[in-house]
Amino acid sequence: MKILRSPSELRTYQAKSSASVGFVPTMGALHRGHLTLVERARQENDEVVVSIFVNPLQFDQAADLGNYPRTEESDVTALEAAGVHALFLPTEAQMYGDGGQYTVDEAPFSQALCGADRPGHFKGVLTVVLKLLNLVRPTRLYLGEKDYQQYQLIKGLVEAFFLEIDVIGVPTQREPDGLAMSSRNQRLNPEQRQRAAGLYRLLQSADSDAWVTAELVKLGFIVDYVVTKDGRRFGAVQLGSGNQAIRLIDNVRISA
Ligand code: PAF
Repeated sequence: MKILRSPSELRTYQAKSSASVGFVPTMGALHRGHLTLVERARQENDEVVVSIFVNPLQFDQAADLGNYPRTEESDVTALEAAGVHALFLPTEAQMYGDGGQYTVDEAPFSQALCGADRPGHFKGVLTVVLKLLNLVRPTRLYLGEKDYQQYQLIKGLVEAFFLEIDVIGVPTQREPDGLAMSSRNQRLNPEQRQRAAGLYRLLQSADSDAWVTAELVKLGFIVDYVVTKDGRRFGAVQLGSGNQAIRLIDNVRISA
């Protein structure tokens, strides 16, 4: 696996290849969910490129950015074992040479659900993803459906800006008790980890969003939202408080 630490190293690498490229953008702290995306990308492309970049522009709270797990060494080992061809590891200065003056945004969907609780979050996501797509120029882009709103918004971005990239959503990977795999799970203490599975269990309930919200509150979650929309129920909750709060999101398909 080639480790490319700058856009110019990426360009040099690309100049030697005319293969189809599957791209998996990540913020590191990799888990089986990411490796499933890599596996799918390997099956459908000649080469797989992964990026790891903890994007400051998509964090609305400094504490959340500071607490985000960073595990570069084990990430590199896992990606190598998974047969990734190139890992792009840019710095903040390289990605935001413009000082973050140029951004891309969407309305109104980016202001709903997670966007309502995290102002500017999706502007940060869409901006960095457009930059990464312009750098990597993949054939196919792989995104996890746990972040379903993000997946939909990036699909829309690719269409709106006429990028010739197939955007592929990959079903959420879950722990045996149903908890959606997420880099943030690493921060849960054993008691929170046990409670966390309640999110997926309750989202599947046939009862109303209001009932699910009330049950989540009983379990000790701070509930950001529970919303049913277009055949899916979306939920976002927090465990812990203040600077140590851990935000978990999930969504499930709901039969009518
Ligand atoms: O889902 C993530 O890890 C991030 O939002 C992404 C898509 C890598 C952009 O920073």
